[in-house]
Amino acid sequence: MAIIFKILLLTFVLPTLIFAHQVTLEDKSLEEIVNTRMAKMQEIKSSSSKIHKIISSENFEEIQRLSEILLNAAIQFKGLFPEGSQYGKASESIWTTVDDPDNIEKIDTFAEYTQKFINDIEMIKLSVELEDQEMLNDSFKSMAENCGSCHKKFKG
Ligand code: HEC
Repeated sequence: MAIIFKILLLTFVLPTLIFAHQVTLEDKSLEEIVNTRMAKMQEIKSSSSKIHKIISSENFEEIQRLSEILLNAAIQFKGLFPEGSQYGKASESIWTTVDDPDNIEKIDTFAEYTQKFINDIEMIKLSVELEDQEMLNDSFKSMAENCGSCHKKFKG
């Protein structure tokens, strides 16, 4: 009985385990993480350019809908850089920058860059709620400045 069990184990179970090991869960989830964060960036690109196109339309409802998509994508993007997910165009400094306790004003870490980006999107949403066109123009401009400044620092 024990021998039969061993034979079964060696012929069926072990090869399956070895095969399963080749596509490790770790690799798969890294790939998923990287693909998801690039997809989030594509969502950010497309929703922000759609907002830009209709910024003066006074179609506040549609701008709000797109801002919601942009906001959710930015929030999700922020959580897609766990330790060990260094890959592709994401700069190593995402994982190595630390807060500078001597200079609290200085925005230095990736977390701070993403949070500033999120705050600026919140301002767009607020301006839309207030139907304040001037504030909308200004807040969109500030939000859009994040793209270049973050890429310069954190995208290789
Ligand atoms: C807080 C930092 C940050 C902000 C803000 C930011 N990005 Fe990115 N972006 C990145 C990083 C990091 C990558 C590389 C991601 C990767 O490869 O894992 C990236 C990648 C991209 C890509 C390439 C995605 C792909 O499929 O390869 C596009 C397009 C993009 N960003 C557009 C934008 C636009 C448009 C904005 C502003 C509306 C923006 N980003 C704001 C950090 C940022």
